[in-house]
Amino acid sequence: RATTEDLHERIRAAKATLGEKLVILGHFYQREEIIAHADFVGDSFQLANASLTRPEAEAIVFCGVHFMAETADMLSEPDQAVILPNLAAGCSMADMADIDQVEECWEQLMEVYRDTTDSSPDGLQPVIPVTYMNSSAALKGFCGRNGGIVCTSSNAATVLEWAFERGQRVLFFPDQHLGRNTAKAMGISLDRMPMWNPNKPLGGNDEQALLDAQVVLWHGFCSVHRRFTVAQVEQARAEHPGVRVIVHPECPMPVVDAADESGSTDYITKAIAAATEPTTFAIGTEINLVQRLAAEYPQHTIFCLDPVVCPCSTMYRIHPGYLAWVLESLVAGEVVNRISVPADVAEPARIALERMLAAKP
Ligand code: 13P
Ligand code: SF4
Repeated sequence: RATTEDLHERIRAAKATLGEKLVILGHFYQREEIIAHADFVGDSFQLANASLTRPEAEAIVFCGVHFMAETADMLSEPDQAVILPNLAAGCSMADMADIDQVEECWEQLMEVYRDTTDSSPDGLQPVIPVTYMNSSAALKGFCGRNGGIVCTSSNAATVLEWAFERGQRVLFFPDQHLGRNTAKAMGISLDRMPMWNPNKPLGGNDEQALLDAQVVLWHGFCSVHRRFTVAQVEQARAEHPGVRVIVHPECPMPVVDAADESGSTDYITKAIAAATEPTTFAIGTEINLVQRLAAEYPQHTIFCLDPVVCPCSTMYRIHPGYLAWVLESLVAGEVVNRISVPADVAEPARIALERMLAAKP
């Protein structure tokens, strides 16, 4: 059995041999043993951009989850191989919206909205599909084909504004919480955000609510961020007077409302970096990021709102053993665990991704 130090040594040696041919991307939620080897560390938006910055690299090893590697494959050059060290690193939220269910929902919405195109004074589309980055390439392709766009947690409000310039309503999937929290912060009232229920029989969703909607939400959620509660926020405030509570917008709305601020992993990182006075931060996001920030900023007190350790179990599936294996395979001239999105899916998905990258804040 290889020791951790052996694995690090093997990774370093393979990296040195591959040189400029290789780039390793690491999401903020990766464990430290992986982050130590990453060339770029960031949130899902930054890593999508990072995929564009090294066109000369032959291999992009993506230490994150499946949908992120798919995105990197679609944004990178066709001859670059995107590799996910462990193919079992998925995302339970992304799995909550499958393409068949979304197509079915879309068909029913088109039926409900059939008369509203003509009634729009500006010729706006009845509804614009917006998918969170945390979704399969097939859903991004669906958005590309239907006038829609992708968003991440760092640009969701900008993207919703983009969508409202083109449509009367938005269908937002898969994360109900990011959709609700973002729309609420933009002043949209909760009674104009019905949730689509894919389990209701044909015509079972409330037609009037769908007609009155500004944002139709999907039922998905993140199993990590769903764990945070208002009681935890209250406890942090009671135990640490003056604490600054920052949570990720994938948390349920009452938690976001109880916090002082909410924002993407990049927002959280920058907020802590910008604090000039010693501050106590209670953070509502994945534990690997929180612990790294606590170690990086010893002048502050930084802790996770959830006292029971709260990792993303699928991000955690990227173990240094897998990283060593994929890199050594590359040294041996073999590409393993390549993520390759078929052209008929990638083409429209790229359109939705490029709309996002071009949408200005
Ligand atoms: P970011 O968009 O903040 O990187 O978050 C990705 C993610 O998976 C959060 O759960
Ligand atoms: Fe998916 Fe949640 Fe893990 Fe992010 S933290 S990858 S949304 S399960």
